[in-house]
Amino acid sequence: MNGERLVSFHSYQEMAEYYFKYVDLKPFNAFYERPGTLALLPGVSGKKVLDAACAAGWYTSWLLEQGAAVTGIDFSPNMIEMTRRRVGNRAEIIRADLNEGLPFIGDGSVDIVLSSLTLHYLKDWTTVMGEFYRILRPDGVMVFSVHHPFMDFTYFQRENYFLTELLDDEWETPQGKVKVQFYRRPLSKITADVLEAGFVIEKLAEPMPTEEFRKVQPEVYDKLTKRPQFLFVRARKT
Ligand SMILES: C[S@@+](CC[C@H](N)C(=O)[O-])C[C@H]1O[C@@H](n2cnc3c(N)ncnc32)[C@H](O)[C@@H]1O
Repeated sequence: MNGERLVSFHSYQEMAEYYFKYVDLKPFNAFYERPGTLALLPGVSGKKVLDAACAAGWYTSWLLEQGAAVTGIDFSPNMIEMTRRRVGNRAEIIRADLNEGLPFIGDGSVDIVLSSLTLHYLKDWTTVMGEFYRILRPDGVMVFSVHHPFMDFTYFQRENYFLTELLDDEWETPQGKVKVQFYRRPLSKITADVLEAGFVIEKLAEPMPTEEFRKVQPEVYDKLTKRPQFLFVRARKT
């Protein structure tokens, strides 16, 4: 693992309990990211779904409740443990690094790939997009959410929008501050990497936070209605 990957690895190792206990209820997740991702998903009942990366297992659990057969992967052993704690052996939970491919998943064996708020931890999307394309059946669907390139560019006051660059951040958690690193890339790079893998982009969404968000955090809600934080994509294997 290179140095940059190590930082996110250790951050998520550290944050596993926090994710398990708190992230389900955080307005950014519950009332913004999750509604945005779920709105793009096709019906999942009876489908084989890859949750990449599952973190503490919220999507894995939701998918199981909807009647999907789920494989969840994550590179953090502590996150894997949290997902197992949540879903037991009802899903296949595997420790794997998305940078290194998914050799344990067969060609054309998955109906839906779901990847929420993870791809910005990967510098190069060639392997991951190629693998998502390979494991999907023809006509299969990939849905992902990532940090919005506009948000990362403005919030971190970067100079050159067209670069793909590593950014440093620090998150407040109940256990204290945690250092996080992720990649910002321009919108054209996001779409090019998806298209070059062979996908057709069906939808690119910048949804509003929900009414529940406004009730619990009106000021943040107001900001999100003017400045998008996440970008949502649905693409199909042709
Ligand atoms: C923001 S969390 C995902 C949240 C989760 N999808 C949810 O909504 O509950 C990002 C996850 O990506 C994982 N991750 C980051 N880089 C990864 C990589 N290269 N391979 C596999 N997992 C990775 C982290 O361990 C972490 O669990």
